[in-house]
This record gives sequence, C-alpha cells and structure tokens, in this order.
Amino acid sequence: MKSSLSTFALVFAFITTPARGATYSRSDCILGTDFLTKFTFEAVADPSNGRVNYVDEATAVNTGLVSTTSTTFTMGADDTTVLDPNGPGRNSVRIKSTKSYTTHVAVFDVNHMPQGCGTWPAIWETDEDDWPNGGEADIVEGVNDQAPNTVTLHTSPGCTVPSSGRNQTGTVLSTDCAAADNGNDGCAVGLGPNSYGPPFNALGGGWYAIERTDSFISVWFWSRLDGAVPSDVSNPQNTVNTDNWSTPSANFPDTSCDIGSKFDSNNIIINLTFCGGWAGNATVYGASGCPSTCVDYVNNNPSAFSNAYFEFASLSVYQ
Ligand SMILES: *[C@@H]1O[C@H](CO)[C@@H](O)[C@H](O)[C@H]1NC(C)=O
Ligand SMILES: *[C@@H]1O[C@H](CO)[C@@H](O)[C@H](O)[C@H]1NC(C)=O
Ligand SMILES: *[C@@H]1O[C@H](CO)[C@@H](O)[C@H](O)[C@H]1NC(C)=O
Ligand SMILES: *[C@@H]1O[C@H](CO)[C@@H](O)[C@H](O)[C@H]1NC(C)=O
Repeated sequence: MKSSLSTFALVFAFITTPARGATYSRSDCILGTDFLTKFTFEAVADPSNGRVNYVDEATAVNTGLVSTTSTTFTMGADDTTVLDPNGPGRNSVRIKSTKSYTTHVAVFDVNHMPQGCGTWPAIWETDEDDWPNGGEADIVEGVNDQAPNTVTLHTSPGCTVPSSGRNQTGTVLSTDCAAADNGNDGCAVGLGPNSYGPPFNALGGGWYAIERTDSFISVWFWSRLDGAVPSDVSNPQNTVNTDNWSTPSANFPDTSCDIGSKFDSNNIIINLTFCGGWAGNATVYGASGCPSTCVDYVNNNPSAFSNAYFEFASLSVYQ
C-alpha cells in the first residue's frame, strides 16, 4: 500500500510539475479588432500616480489613440495637446483581458513599443482584485527608453528566487519577489540590449512569450531578426511546444517560492503611463539624460509622444 501510494505520488508529481516545457493548445487568437472585444478599457486613476489620464474605449477610438487593421492593433497616447499643469495628465490607454489564466503560454508579437522620455509602458499579468496575493508577472516593463527590458514578479511575502544557477540568459537584478519588501522592487531579471525601447523598435520589434505553470514562470524574448525564433512562435499554430524553445530569457523556479499558491487566475494588462513612481522618480529620470523634469516634459512636449505607442501583430494564448 505504502509503496503503491508513493509510486502514484511520484507519477502524479511527474505529470503535474514538469521541470520544463510542454505542449499547449491555443485558446485565444487575438488579431486586429479582436483586441477591442477581448480586452476592456480601464479608465482608472493610475495607482502609481503617473502623469496620465486613462480614457475609455469610445474616447480612445474616436481620438485615434487606438486603431486597428486586419493585421495590427495600435495603442498610443495624445501627441497634440499641451497640458494644463493643474489639469489631468496625458491621455493614454490601459486595457485588460476579459479572460484570466492560470497555467498557460501567451505569445505577444509586438511590432513597436512606446518610446520617449517620461514613458513607462508595461505588458503584464495580475489579479487586480487580489494584489499582491494573486501575484503579478511583468513581461515587458521599463522607463525613459532605458534598456534593457526588466521581467519581474511581485508576490505576497515568502517568495524568493535563486541569485544564480537559473536556466536563463538574462541577468539577475533582484531576488525577493515580495511586494512588501524593498519598496516593491520585486524579483527582476534584465534582458538583452534589443529587448526594449528604441533599439527594439529599430529592429522591427519581436516576440515576447510567457509560460506559467505551478512550478515555474519563464519569459522569452526574440528580436525580429533573431534566427533562433521557434517556428510555432513566428508562425502561430494550434499548439505550441515550449520543449522546443531555447533557454528562457528569464526563469523563476519554485525552489523557494510556491509559484502555484503565489499566483491565482491572472488577467493580461497592457498600459502606458508617464512619470509616476518609477519613470518620474527624480533620480531615475535624471540618470536617463532626459530634459527638464518628467512632469514638465510630459506637459509641454506633445509631439515627443508620437512614438509612444504599442503596435501588436497578434496575441496568442495557449492552455
Ligand atoms: C535547468 O534545465 C535542466 C534541463 O531541463 C534541468 O535539468 C535543471 O533542473 C534546470 N535547472 C533549474 C535551476 O531549473
Ligand atoms: C522546433 O523549432 C524549430 C525552429 O527553431 C523548427 O524548425 C521545428 O519544426 C520545431 N519542432 C517542433 C517539433 O516543433
Ligand atoms: C500599470 O498599472 C500598474 C498597476 O495598476 C501600475 O503600477 C503601473 O504603474 C502601470 N504601468 C503603466 C506602465 O501604466
Ligand atoms: C528613486 O530612485 C532611487 C534610485 O533607484 C531610489 O533610491 C529612491 O528610493 C527612489 N525614490 C523614491 C521616492 O521612490
């Protein structure tokens, strides 16, 4: 009895906690106008006090902040208005997927990401109603055009990741994922030089992918011209097999973090704010080589935000 139970437990553990990848089936294929139906627009106050005014869907469509073709979804900011310093921030967009996900792979084919002084774009996953207990995984995030992209987890207390020995090509920046520690820096990994901002855009963007299971979270980045991009990423099919992918850019193992209990069902969120707690931090902004102060720059230089937009070719989610 004892031995058959432990055999069962071993088989069960092997099936449910793969050390690495697996094959997943596509549940969502989001192209062009699908972004308008499979995401909701969140006209909310930015929790990080950004110099932003998130608008609703009708305003975003009517003022051209979002637009679609059969093969693209573009989402950007107001690039014509000089702002009243005492009025609301720069109009921008924040969208959240109607579906939420536990174990999954999401592949973002990104042609362009927001660039410019004061910008703080993000592609991430969280449960807004249960933060940080439901976890947060930031796939794309950075400020003021400062490469590289940082991939970060934020969790409830009691989640750390190793400082070395991880299966990743990126660089460990911090290892304590708990939102309550270190001013919510989270556990972060820095990626390669073409992963963010103007260099990313100059090469035509690329692909970001996340694989989340109960035992690890991995993120991959392939620049547009990277010869190693897997065929099921560059040409989305009905399945993906992450076993066939290269070493992740960032890998968060469950060695000292129970990923399965630290993350619940998360939505995908894409937002672009300005300044706020990170981009607008005087030390961070000052070190970026950007002019004046972040808020003055964002208020007074609308045309500087003509390139502050995301353009997505597709988003595929597999479960
Ligand atoms: C890295 O991947 C290899 C091969 O899949 C695996 O044997 C090893 O346990 C992994 N190491 C870590 C730290 O996840
Ligand atoms: C694995 O990826 C390579 C490209 O990196 C591709 O040519 C091959 O078809 C893939 N194999 C499977 C089984 O997906
Ligand atoms: C996106 O939203 C998160 C959480 O509400 C916030 O902390 C962050 O500042 C926002 N980031 C951007 C880029 O808007
Ligand atoms: C601004 O950033 C610096 C450098 O990262 C940090 O030491 C400081 O605590 C930050 N200030 C605030 C108010 O967050």
